[in-house]
Amino acid sequence: MSNIDYSDKIPNNVNLANDRTLQRALEHWQPRFLDWWREMGPNDFASVDVYLRTAVGVDAQGWAHYGTVKMPDYRWGIFLADPIANRTIGFGDSFGQPVWQQVPGEFRSQFRRLIVTQGDTEPASVEQQHRLGHTCPSLYDLRNLFQINVEEGRHLWAMVYILHAYFGRDGREEAEELLARHSGDVDKPRILGTFNEPIEDWLSFFCFCYFTDRDGKFQLKSLAESSFDPLARTCRFMLTEEAHHMFVGETGLGRIVRRTLEVMKEIGSDDPEAIRRRGAVDLPLLQRYLNYWFSSSLDLFGSEVSSNAATTFASGIKGRPDETTQYRDHVCSDSTFEIEVPDGRGGVVKDTSPMRNAMNEVLRDAYVRDCEIGLKRWNMHIKRAGYNFELKLPSSRFRRAIGAWANIPTDLEGRPIGREEYDRSLPGWLPSASDRDYVKSLMQRVVEPGKMAAWIAPPERGVNNLPVDYEYVRLN
Ligand SMILES: [Fe+2]
Ligand SMILES: [Fe+2]
Repeated sequence: MSNIDYSDKIPNNVNLANDRTLQRALEHWQPRFLDWWREMGPNDFASVDVYLRTAVGVDAQGWAHYGTVKMPDYRWGIFLADPIANRTIGFGDSFGQPVWQQVPGEFRSQFRRLIVTQGDTEPASVEQQHRLGHTCPSLYDLRNLFQINVEEGRHLWAMVYILHAYFGRDGREEAEELLARHSGDVDKPRILGTFNEPIEDWLSFFCFCYFTDRDGKFQLKSLAESSFDPLARTCRFMLTEEAHHMFVGETGLGRIVRRTLEVMKEIGSDDPEAIRRRGAVDLPLLQRYLNYWFSSSLDLFGSEVSSNAATTFASGIKGRPDETTQYRDHVCSDSTFEIEVPDGRGGVVKDTSPMRNAMNEVLRDAYVRDCEIGLKRWNMHIKRAGYNFELKLPSSRFRRAIGAWANIPTDLEGRPIGREEYDRSLPGWLPSASDRDYVKSLMQRVVEPGKMAAWIAPPERGVNNLPVDYEYVRLN
């Protein structure tokens, strides 16, 4: 297995020292990255000690080292999963041929666009979360936020390495641009809509990790299948880190549900007002946040039917998540996929698309199924506590801005409804101004080791076998 060299200025397992030109180019980018981190990252916490994990290998076992670091000293580096010997192309027209170690000229611009779009989301999320540290519900959560932030920074490095190493001058320019666009900036916003929405409270943060980061997981999974082997290996290792981000989202929302159920038991009521008087998050409020973040994240997958998706699949650029293990037909040249689209008269009609053109929808379907897992678990807790309230994902047609259902008013079940009814109902389906004010009022920072804010239950265990009341962040 390839070891990570930490004596280098830029830790890496890609033999950077053997390519002086590339090394110099990346060393030139490094101080710019650090400037960006200081300006746009969790900069108010630059001098605090944080218990963080850092990658030290790319093995499934023992790949991370845990220790206390100040975030600006984190060793961001370039880590690729080990190559698979004799790997062949797993899907599309060139199925079975050897994978590419360089980008084929004819696919260059498509690859560049995909890599830049993925790369753009990484620093975007750090920017979105930039002030959250001030309102953390516990030191444990604060540490998890910072862990995610440094790893999203590392994911930016992962994409910048690919751009620098394989895309020449264009790649270097794109790497500069990745630091020049900013989340929510009027003149130079981030590329994708969801990554320009501010995350000002921890309920939104946990929803973001659960829904939006999970989109990232699915994009990475499909790029991990790519015929361009360095990209596939980069994404495979990113997924190892990404698992923690999913964990933070799922357990964060689960702990909120647990705390709410405790309060409901204590007061013997599920009345939202009574629950709010005790400083917890009532379940209908949580549901409205889920509706918001789920529908917003669905758009990230693109249109249901897309000629672009067909081309990237056919040419071996981007596969389906778990292409090798989940599917039998890896070519999909004559299969079809059924989708439901609006019929233009307020109804729904079934439509058949060539499978390749429906790849975005195939990905979105897999994503929706993955999103359901957490809800099932939380609903089990609610049921066990004796309440018949069920958290639900809205229909994937609800509140869409991209694709066949863009701007088609539907209810939460995806039934097309009149515009007036939609406008009237929407405030009850999404977080209202008073919901947001209430959530904001809950955001009081708790920094005593082991203590939790009143709206969230403690985690079941601490980080890396340490106790929950360990001082994960030393604030002075
Ligand atoms: Fe990431
Ligand atoms: Fe992530």
